Amino acid sequence: MKIMEKIKAKARASVKRIVLPEGDEPRTVEAAGIVAAEGVAEPVLLTPGAIARPENKSRLDAYADALYELRKAKGLTREAAAALAADPMYYGMMMVKEGDADGLVSGAVHSTGDMLRPALQIVKTAPGMKLVSSAFLLESRVAEFGEDGLLVLADCVVNPCPDAEELANIAVATADTARALCGFGEPRVAMLSFSSKGSAEHPLVDKVRKATAIAHSLAPDLLIDGELQLDAALVPDVAALKAKGSPVAGRANVLVFPDLQSGNIGYKIAQRLGGASCFAVLQGLAGPCNDLSRGCSVDDIVNTIAATAVQAGAA
Ligand code: ACO
Repeated sequence: MKIMEKIKAKARASVKRIVLPEGDEPRTVEAAGIVAAEGVAEPVLLTPGAIARPENKSRLDAYADALYELRKAKGLTREAAAALAADPMYYGMMMVKEGDADGLVSGAVHSTGDMLRPALQIVKTAPGMKLVSSAFLLESRVAEFGEDGLLVLADCVVNPCPDAEELANIAVATADTARALCGFGEPRVAMLSFSSKGSAEHPLVDKVRKATAIAHSLAPDLLIDGELQLDAALVPDVAALKAKGSPVAGRANVLVFPDLQSGNIGYKIAQRLGGASCFAVLQGLAGPCNDLSRGCSVDDIVNTIAATAVQAGAA
């Protein structure tokens, strides 16, 4: 993806320490070598063997204590905390939590849920953020859409059924990601639906309208409009017919889907039928942690480490 060169350049400008809990996975090891050699990040490869070394015992004990304190109200025992802290995924999350790493990248081996759950439970949301969601960077083959073909989509990974307030939070967080990671000077956010500006009436449409109003109040200066169909959001001629006078319609560069089913299906249609390139990051965590697909390439891991480092710099 073209955007990746810009993201890597930003990462090189302020080198961050990124922990890789799948530290004996061959693609991850290769990617760590590349980011270190290119000055994109300082990678920390974690393995159960490295965590168990005598010189790391006091750090392991400290993480087990901190994890116990964090989760005891949820029923975690001291013994269970010690066992979890020795797991590289949890140890890595504790490094981010305690400020010993700037970010984390995982998922070449673990499933999305197995990486997301400890991130949500340990790293938790950033101050002022209500929820964690995802942003997809999508490079379309059609350069007139978005910013020279680049669009940011949400939420295609995390929240199955966001309510209006959660959807508003996702919209504002995604605009922030569009600025910080993609360098968008003016995010223009379309709140997507099957209706454009009252063309249909349904409780699902009401949710999108309500979310748009809440997002307006959360970020009064943000260009955001809804409800809009995808064609009204992207195509000027359709926007002129369906959403005349909208500050966003026909030129949206951030697309917010009403729920996870539409978002996940939507990005996969663009990718598989439209030939778009896609890349996802999580947003809203107190420290950036990002998930890989288990089918990822070495390049995908390098790119995700670079994006995580840029998110760490923007925090
Ligand atoms: N933001 C912040 N915190 C959250 C969020 C969120 N969006 N969702 C859950 N949490 C917190 C909960 O409050 C809870 O915290 P606590 O334990 O301190 O009280 C903790 O996370 C666990 O929450 P649960 O609801 O018990 O966790 P659950 O098992 O439901 O998992 C998960 C949460 C993994 C995010 C779930 O919603 C999920 O599976 N989402 C879909 C993931 C997925 O399959 N995506 C599609 C595939 S990925 C792709 O195609 C690229």
